[in-house]
Amino acid sequence: MAEKVLMGKEIIARNEAMFSFDDRSMYFGDGIYEVVRIYGGHPYQMEMHMQRLQRSAEEMDIPFSTEDKQTLSASLNELKNENHLQEGILYVQVSRGAAERNHLYERHEEPVVFAFTKEMPRPLDQLQSGIAVYLTEDERWLRCDIKSVNLLGNVLAKRKAADHDCQEAVLHRGNEVTEGSSSNLFIVKDNELQTHPATNLILNGITRQVVLEYAEQLGKSVRYDPIDIEDLAGADEAFITSTTNEVTPITEFRGTKHVQLKVGEITKQLQERFEDDVKKTESGT
Ligand SMILES: Cc1ncc(COP(=O)(O)O)c(C=O)c1O
Repeated sequence: MAEKVLMGKEIIARNEAMFSFDDRSMYFGDGIYEVVRIYGGHPYQMEMHMQRLQRSAEEMDIPFSTEDKQTLSASLNELKNENHLQEGILYVQVSRGAAERNHLYERHEEPVVFAFTKEMPRPLDQLQSGIAVYLTEDERWLRCDIKSVNLLGNVLAKRKAADHDCQEAVLHRGNEVTEGSSSNLFIVKDNELQTHPATNLILNGITRQVVLEYAEQLGKSVRYDPIDIEDLAGADEAFITSTTNEVTPITEFRGTKHVQLKVGEITKQLQERFEDDVKKTESGT
């Protein structure tokens, strides 16, 4: 059976989907998106993702009402069911719309919404053994809190990391570490977690927010300060968080600094909590 996609409010076969030549997301990266994880056929934290999409739309001056949010959420569930997706992701994008190329946008363009699903197994090996990450200068714009499709700084950094046999790039502005190219960063030092505060310089990850709740449940204190690159060497543990990478331990930093680490106990405790959430999602509770 042909794979289905969502185009506007319609679910259609992927090979029938058509985009305007003049979509602003192509010319300007003028759009926003979300990636939602599916475990056992059920979406994980759909409402949080939809809320963040709505916030991104507000910040970008793209019309997206609470009613649009509810309709989209229902359509995404339908798409996932039509494609019989058990283990994977839902990708959804909202572009400002199509208009003859002009930097100046008008406010009458109709946003273009589309979504697809993709099967994706959980990264179980990496969750256990950890990954190497590549430290490199953060060259992105100053509104990283918006989940926009304009991801040039992120994709260039990711390529650089891969060219150094690393699974993720970790970005820093001068001495201050911000986040990964598609993840948030945490370190642990003396039983305390540290992560960049949710400012304009990072995306406030859904997994980051979930992990912060676990930390509170576990009675761990959290320091919301940019991590100084010099402090990585003294860290007891480090990990990244994201929708697709969950809570992934870092065993090595390369690039600007070289640091080796072991998969730590607090990382493992947070992973156990996450595992409980996955089980709950899989069972539909
Ligand atoms: C730049 C950036 N930071 C953080 C994250 C993690 O966010 P989430 O946990 O919502 O997937 C992502 C996810 O793609 C990202 O692109």
